[in-house]
Amino acid sequence: MPLTAEKKSKREENLLFFKQLVKNPKALGALVPSSEALGKFISKQINLTGDPYFVEIGAGTGSLTMALLRAGVRPDRLFVVEIDPSLSDFLKKKLPSDIHVITGDACHLSCLLPEHVIGHVDTVISGIPMMNLTIFEQMNLIQSSFQIMKPEGSLLQFTYGPLSPLPAKKLGLQKKRVGHVLLNFPPATIWRYTKIKG
Ligand SMILES: C[S@@+](CC[C@H](N)C(=O)[O-])C[C@H]1O[C@@H](n2cnc3c(N)ncnc32)[C@H](O)[C@@H]1O
Repeated sequence: MPLTAEKKSKREENLLFFKQLVKNPKALGALVPSSEALGKFISKQINLTGDPYFVEIGAGTGSLTMALLRAGVRPDRLFVVEIDPSLSDFLKKKLPSDIHVITGDACHLSCLLPEHVIGHVDTVISGIPMMNLTIFEQMNLIQSSFQIMKPEGSLLQFTYGPLSPLPAKKLGLQKKRVGHVLLNFPPATIWRYTKIKG
């Protein structure tokens, strides 16, 4: 039976993801892209009031990006950062042209984003496998993420284990487990981090 265009493009997406995983298992950190169910759950955690800016870090093949768009995030308010050039090229072809796809390391967000966005980002949505990073790499990513956010901004992060993927207190953060999505491979837990005030 011939494959439908949608199934064919999903297969190509999974194949590219797997190829990049073999090249860099530490950065990819998953066997397949996130499911639609995980994307939908994460999209429900963001507040769209006032058309805020959102930044997605570690976008891979864009599963979460598509869910954010379906949930009503304005493409021109969404900045997508991906370190792997093959994946960011794929995103540039797949996503609407008014989304800002940036090839680069999320540790340097204030250098990668336009000046008018810095300090005005509502939520950073992260797919970066934080558990694979050293504490110094985690510190850099957290500093980079909170530098571009509004004071009340937050970081949404999914993980496959039962525990927080970040040592919140050590990083000056408050953590909240916002939910668990079984329909993902592997099932994922979603955490929200905010800055400890004072
Ligand atoms: C687990 S995959 C998640 C992909 C996608 N968000 C999803 O949920 O299907 C992690 C992604 O983070 C990217 N990544 C890892 N470290 C990064 C960094 N420092 N800056 C930007 N992207 C990074 C990887 O290349 C990979 O695409």
